[in-house]
Amino acid sequence: MSLLVARGLSKRFGGLHAVAGLDLAVAPGEMLGLIGPNGAGKTTVFNLLSGFLTADAGDVRFNGRSIVGLAPHAICRLGLARTFQIVRPFPRMTVLENVRVGALARHPRAPEALAQARDVVARVGLTARERVAASALTLAERKRLELARALATGPSLLLLDEVMAGLNPTEIETIIQLIRGIHESGVSILLIEHNMRAVMALSHRIVVLSFGERIAEGTPAEIASHPKVVEAYLGEEYVRAAQA
Ligand SMILES: Nc1ncnc2c1ncn2[C@@H]1O[C@H](COP(=O)(O)OP(=O)(O)O)[C@@H](O)[C@H]1O
Ligand SMILES: [Mg+2]
Repeated sequence: MSLLVARGLSKRFGGLHAVAGLDLAVAPGEMLGLIGPNGAGKTTVFNLLSGFLTADAGDVRFNGRSIVGLAPHAICRLGLARTFQIVRPFPRMTVLENVRVGALARHPRAPEALAQARDVVARVGLTARERVAASALTLAERKRLELARALATGPSLLLLDEVMAGLNPTEIETIIQLIRGIHESGVSILLIEHNMRAVMALSHRIVVLSFGERIAEGTPAEIASHPKVVEAYLGEEYVRAAQA
């Protein structure tokens, strides 16, 4: 059985069909990549799955139960957490306080939430920065804080929206290892990512979105050489570079 199944998912913004009848399934234990050009509708899919936007049509099932119409916090409590492409921690709160907010979703009792927050802060390597205000963090640290906030809610499925964007190669390597570790601890992952090397290395399977529709799906190797994907997204240069 699938952990998450979306069927016929659709969202219009005025005349724009941002997500157009999308079917998507994530299996338990899977690391699924979601790629596609800017404006393809990837973030909108996350907003629909996590309850931040209401779909015009379609059904979403998580652990066999329909989550359509549920509020974001209710979906989060069921074990589906997401990060935001534009990271948005509470700027004046410290790193630990920010993560504690996430932990409270899972552990209503304050001492347990704090212990959970400490644990997650350590996992993302921010313990030395736990008393620093979120606004004082570097971009790489803010991305890891964003991950920690989602992780602290105790998800079984984590939606990651471009957590590598703007990072340097060393920082990207760190976050790849972090994502691997989270996955190995038993969390299924749906990953939106523009960094092709990273998404190819991490994903078991990749779904390609263009103009709100799925244009291809397959293993990283299949996707890298798929004519439609090359045309819509990767470009001939990518294929030549990958083959070189
Ligand atoms: N809240 C919104 N209101 C109006 N248009 C939106 C909104 N969110 C996204 N869009 C539009 O929907 C399309 C898909 O956006 P998005 O899901 O952010 O794409 P991606 O994440 O793949 O880059 C884009 O054309 C974008 O401008
Ligand atoms: Mg996006």
